[in-house]
Amino acid sequence: MESDALWYKDAVIYEVHVRGFYDADGDGAGEFRGLTLKLDYLADLGVSAIWLLPFYPSPLRDDGYDIADYGNIHQAYGTLDDFRMFLEEAHRRGLRVITELVLNHTSDQHPWFQEARSSRTNPRRDWYVWSDTPDRYKQARIIFTDTELSNWAWDPVSKSYYWHRFFNHQPDLNYDNPAVREAMWEVMKFWFAMGVDGMRLDAVPYLVEREGTSCENLAETHEVLRDLRQRVDAEFSGKMLLAEANQWPRDVREYFGNGDQCHMAFHFPLMPRMFMAIKLEDRKPIVDILERTPEIPASCQWGTFLRNHDELTLEMVTDEERDYMYDEFARERRAKLNLGIRRRLAPLMEGDRRRIELMNGLLMSLPGSPILYYGDEIGMGDNIYLGDRNGVRTPMQWNGGWNAGFSSADPEQLYSPIISNPIYGYQAVNVESQRRFDHSLLSWMKRLIRLRKSTRVFGRGAIELLAPENHRVLAYVRSLGSERILVVANLSSQAQAAELDLRRWKGAIPIEMFGGNLFPPIGDAPYLLTLGPYQFYWFRLRRL
Ligand code: NOJ
Repeated sequence: MESDALWYKDAVIYEVHVRGFYDADGDGAGEFRGLTLKLDYLADLGVSAIWLLPFYPSPLRDDGYDIADYGNIHQAYGTLDDFRMFLEEAHRRGLRVITELVLNHTSDQHPWFQEARSSRTNPRRDWYVWSDTPDRYKQARIIFTDTELSNWAWDPVSKSYYWHRFFNHQPDLNYDNPAVREAMWEVMKFWFAMGVDGMRLDAVPYLVEREGTSCENLAETHEVLRDLRQRVDAEFSGKMLLAEANQWPRDVREYFGNGDQCHMAFHFPLMPRMFMAIKLEDRKPIVDILERTPEIPASCQWGTFLRNHDELTLEMVTDEERDYMYDEFARERRAKLNLGIRRRLAPLMEGDRRRIELMNGLLMSLPGSPILYYGDEIGMGDNIYLGDRNGVRTPMQWNGGWNAGFSSADPEQLYSPIISNPIYGYQAVNVESQRRFDHSLLSWMKRLIRLRKSTRVFGRGAIELLAPENHRVLAYVRSLGSERILVVANLSSQAQAAELDLRRWKGAIPIEMFGGNLFPPIGDAPYLLTLGPYQFYWFRLRRL
């Protein structure tokens, strides 16, 4: 494996839930041994890192984001030795591994909380945030609006209220207590020393609470991060911290600090705007948000994505934009969850291969390191009849056989029903069948990833937006050193022509990257391109 400390800048990351990938022992849920058996698939797909959803002991009331023990593996997913083996095998294939650090809260089943609630004088009492009234921190919003009415929950044992930003069974840790910070550092050390390459810091804006504030993005929270980062840098090299901060760009910017907090942060506001742009058939939402995206330190990187294990969150849009998104993408009431839409990419694109390709083509060429959600590379569907976000966490569809090749268990025993409708069901959408054809989505995704990785310009280069008169066309030039790549995308359902002012690159020859064909050289005249519905081009600009 390359020993470049900035590996995450060139990474294509694959997000996967160990439970949902492959069940090797036939008990109805995936485990590390199963995931290990599928590493060749991921290596062949071409991704460079795997981000794993939480796999720790947990009552699984928030699919593992409710951790009961930070130093072990959920028994359904295997043992620490299985994990070590997985890590070793991933590394052997050049794949890095990113795990979850859920540092804001624990499960109420965690021994820390059990002790803390046992009496008001327990030494662990102060590890959580308590109050005699539910009136403190009134300005903090509620995140899980569909299930929670308050950020305070009553603890009948110690007869007081505890603070929780997510489900009421997930008490927030108290980061004003140095012992909590030490404990979390011990957790980080444990996994980093084992060989984990990066950590996604879950729900990181909410670490610290202060009266009279929104309790988000506080200076004290950034202080905690700086401290953890310093310790990471002092003891390890080449590790990466990825902030999950669902915030506006200027607030997310703070999580990079001066390159002394997180290495990466998700670009939450960009994601819904990509969906808006393709629906409006207009580049404006994407251009606007890119223009509002601040510069970040050279060692830092955005994490970009189309879909993940959560609902397509609409927190970072205006009320009007949210209404528009609901109207266009969630006409069925069931598709909505909290402030978002719980659907996968393919159904959101109405199964339209051209739109799926376009969205991925943008994802892979815009600034940042792209993150793919398992199953989206084959166009898997979802199940909005399952509760919470479970409809986008169904088993991976490997083939058209028994349980989609995911498990040998009885179907009733599976942790989740498999998607089986005629459009997205496993008989129609699966790895095995798509492997056999060069024109399948899977084969196309492999080519896309390979092209993306053929140059560092996408991960590390600058972006310059062009402004063709035709606003249905999005065009930009990515550049790094002497390398230039021109991306032109038709966001509309109809053929479009666009005239691009490329005079600055006069004399260069655009080489279409998928086919390697030469286009006419750039001259003084506006460069005319025609594009079919949802078509996009990547051109390498070669100087003569
Ligand atoms: C963010 C995670 O992505 C989500 O799945 C989880 O429910 C919350 N954090 C709470 O941990």
